[in-house]
Amino acid sequence: MTAPLAKLAQIPPHVAAVADYEALARERVSPGAWAYLDGGAADETTAADNRAALARLRLRTQVLCDLAGGHTACELFGTRLSHPILLAPVAYQKLAHPDGELATVLGASAMQAAMVVSTQASVTLEEIASVAETPLWFQLYIQHERAFTRDLVRRAEAAGTLALVVSVDAPISGLRNREQRAGFAFPPGIEAVNLRGLPPLPPSTSGALFDSPLIATAATWRDIDWLRGETKLPLVLKGIMTAEDAARALSAGADGLIVSNHGGRVLDGQPATIEVLPEIARAVGGRLPLLMDGGIRRGSDVFKALALGANAVLVGRAFVHGLCAAGAVGVAHVLRILQAELEATMVLTGCRDLAAITAERVRRADARV
Ligand code: LAC
Repeated sequence: MTAPLAKLAQIPPHVAAVADYEALARERVSPGAWAYLDGGAADETTAADNRAALARLRLRTQVLCDLAGGHTACELFGTRLSHPILLAPVAYQKLAHPDGELATVLGASAMQAAMVVSTQASVTLEEIASVAETPLWFQLYIQHERAFTRDLVRRAEAAGTLALVVSVDAPISGLRNREQRAGFAFPPGIEAVNLRGLPPLPPSTSGALFDSPLIATAATWRDIDWLRGETKLPLVLKGIMTAEDAARALSAGADGLIVSNHGGRVLDGQPATIEVLPEIARAVGGRLPLLMDGGIRRGSDVFKALALGANAVLVGRAFVHGLCAAGAVGVAHVLRILQAELEATMVLTGCRDLAAITAERVRRADARV
């Protein structure tokens, strides 16, 4: 097995699209880290489907539009963002690059992209916040100790993060067969530093998952009520995949939703996010900001998600590939490519701002005329 190549100090001239980063990334991390960072659950059907479903959509143009003064800006929870592309929460970014989240936040700051910091970041939230020159949101996994969870919320508030992204789709880890086959184990020195001091769960006494302390302490809708009372930060529930759960989240007082199947990393067999986005957008009816992640590799993918009801998107693997290959420069470049492609798609479809990107602008490749 050959050792990972050194990180790139500059971007090779052949790199024209986000997809070009994949090969550059893969050869710059260990096989185990690649399995963790790039893999999905089980057969990875859902991970692949996120991309395939986006690829099945086609764009409907409008010609000869006056587009002078157009822009890609949007507003989320009172913050103006110059484009609707956020960095998804990704755990343990030191697996991708020795500087981990500190490289990511520099890249995000260069491109004014909001970054969602993971509960399982490999750098402390406070360190990331101290160098951030871009909005930060904090992704919260509700921990088995609610007092510890409350402290995390307090830290997120003190660090100046602007929203709490509560992951609701992963009470247990996915079955990551790719990681198992690669024999992935965390290298020394890479850990969830924001969870230091959290007492471990007692070991399970029976083999049955339903009897385990993990399930006994897993979050429920009652915890969303509790969180609602704990913080004034906007609560964004991540991992909503049906109209029924969207309606429930609305009544629980959520301030925003993220349509996400966790990049296909938790339950293989879920549908592609772009496929369920329209039903969730109908359920939400414009009452809350709606975001989507999963499979975004092109500015035209961002456009398609916006057309079908998202106000903004998050990218995960796309920026992680940039991070693996070239650190902060790679992250910034990936974001730059996506924003430039979004702008070009808007110009060529006659959309002068994000509000103009409506469902009329896309059609399924197999739709009858
Ligand atoms: C993952 C967990 C950490 O997707 O959210 O790996």
